[in-house]
Amino acid sequence: MISVIFVCLGNICRSPMAELIFKNMVKERGLEGSFLISSFGTSDCEEGNRIYPPAKRMLESRNVKGDHVAKQLSLKDVINADYVLVMDSGNLFDVLRLTGGKFGEKVLKLCSFTANPRDVADPWYTRDFNRAYEDIFDGCNCFLNYLTETRRV
Ligand code: 4NP
Repeated sequence: MISVIFVCLGNICRSPMAELIFKNMVKERGLEGSFLISSFGTSDCEEGNRIYPPAKRMLESRNVKGDHVAKQLSLKDVINADYVLVMDSGNLFDVLRLTGGKFGEKVLKLCSFTANPRDVADPWYTRDFNRAYEDIFDGCNCFLNYLTETRRV
C-alpha cells in the first residue's frame, strides 16, 4: 500500500482537487487497492470547510466526483505518508518547517514529476480554476506514470 497525501495552503482548492483527481485516475487504472490517498492544508484557516464551490464545479465539469472536508496537516501525517506532494514552493517551505527539516526526501512538488516542473498557482488568488485543474492533472498523471515505470506499484 502506498500512502500519498496532497498538501496546499487552505485544503479547499488545489489539494482536494488533487486528491479526487488522483483517486479517479488510480481507479481508472484498476489500482485503487494499492493506494491510501488524502489531502491536507498547511494552515488551519479553512478547517472543517468543504471544497470551495468553483473548484468543485471545475471537478464536476470533468466528471471527477467526491467530497472532502478541510483539515490541517500534522507531523504525524507526514511521518505516516510515503509521498507528501505539495502544490508550490511556499507549501514546501511550510511542510519542512513543520518537520524541522526532516523527511525532505518524500516532500515533493507535484509538478516536479512533469516535463515542465512548476508550481500549481493558487486559484484562490488567480481565479483560474481551469489552469489549476490542468496542472494538477498533469502532475498526477506523471506521478502515477513514475510509480508504474519504476515498478513501485
Ligand atoms: P488552496 O487555496 O491552498 O489551494 O486551498 C486557498 C484557499 C483559502 C485561502 C488561501 C488559499 N485562504 O486564505 O483562506
